[in-house]
Amino acid sequence: MTDIIFIQDSRIVIGEQIVHLRKYLPPGQKVIVITEESVYSIYQNILRDYEVIRIRGGEVHKSWETIDRITGELIRLEADRNTFIVGFGGGIVCDITGFVASIYMRGCRFGFVPTTLLAQVDASVGGKNGVNYHGYKNILGVFNQPEFVICDPEVLDTLDDREYAAGFSEIVKAAMIADAGLFCYMEEHVKPAWKKDRACLEVLVKAAVNIKASIVERDMKEGGVRRLLNLGHTFAHALEKNGIPLHGEAVSIGLCMASRLSVCKGYMSEEEAERVRRLLELFHLPIRTSIAVSQLLNAMRKDKKRDKEHIHLILPIGIGQCKEEFVSFAELESLMAQL
Ligand SMILES: NC(=O)c1ccc[n+]([C@@H]2O[C@H](COP(=O)([O-])OP(=O)(O)OC[C@H]3O[C@@H](n4cnc5c(N)ncnc54)[C@H](O)[C@@H]3O)[C@@H](O)[C@H]2O)c1
Repeated sequence: MTDIIFIQDSRIVIGEQIVHLRKYLPPGQKVIVITEESVYSIYQNILRDYEVIRIRGGEVHKSWETIDRITGELIRLEADRNTFIVGFGGGIVCDITGFVASIYMRGCRFGFVPTTLLAQVDASVGGKNGVNYHGYKNILGVFNQPEFVICDPEVLDTLDDREYAAGFSEIVKAAMIADAGLFCYMEEHVKPAWKKDRACLEVLVKAAVNIKASIVERDMKEGGVRRLLNLGHTFAHALEKNGIPLHGEAVSIGLCMASRLSVCKGYMSEEEAERVRRLLELFHLPIRTSIAVSQLLNAMRKDKKRDKEHIHLILPIGIGQCKEEFVSFAELESLMAQL
């Protein structure tokens, strides 16, 4: 049984099997798949009928150099504007593919097969594509929707526990932003979710995608309400710059930091912040860091969502609702010292 969620003309198909990829591709047109070395080694059978460009994994390779190399490969494979490009992999592959497909020959058609939980519930959805540049996270990029996103729960079977856990941070984030019921469902279904129970996974992926899709539909280019999706991310990007290796783990710590700031500001009760921490811990996610506040603040000063003295922060008001606040670095420094 598949469910389809739309963002404008972009179809997000939940519960589809990757063996059916062909039916989403335009017939008679050249198709090139971009994937990661290690994902390719697992799924080369599925990809054997396509031309494939393989990239190296890891955030350091979500870079301009990788775009340069892929562009060279596209030229070598004689890709033209009618070529259809598929990103097959985690969030890094999706972000890179969407970006290169959007700029190659002024734009090719493209779609995603996200193969991590994090990419299925978040990175493949919403049309933000881009790469890092000299320590600035996602500073080069475009808004452009993929034609399709195929979310097959079976691909998550080959994901290791740590990467699987990382995906739950973005589902918790979605629940904190807009769906207290989803948060309760997660609290009650930790075991089946962790065991990759299909029915439970489908509920979670569908709910998280629905939340993101409905926000993105109202604000495609992050001029307003879409900024709520950055809950925990300003901290997460600073944590990633300071060595936290997985995006999802950085988001988990970021959600705890945002909750604690909300408690300090009187927007959220200590009990609710504790529920957030506990739920993330139940999904084997980190909830704190030993990185110094001064180092995090230095990294936050480089964030896209700041001016010289202020930064946009998304803060939870209880569970299921958030608000945006423009906070001065001076206030942030004194609040973070209390965390
Ligand atoms: N564009 C957006 O809106 C958006 C939203 C959230 C996150 N992101 C970006 O997504 C990235 C993180 O994505 P991620 O967490 O998927 O990380 P990732 O792309 O690095 O993938 C994680 C790891 O899982 C492995 N892997 C992928 N699929 C697998 C499978 N099915 N079986 C076994 N191993 C598999 C990969 O080799 C990789 O080592 C970050 O760069 C983040 O900025 C983008």
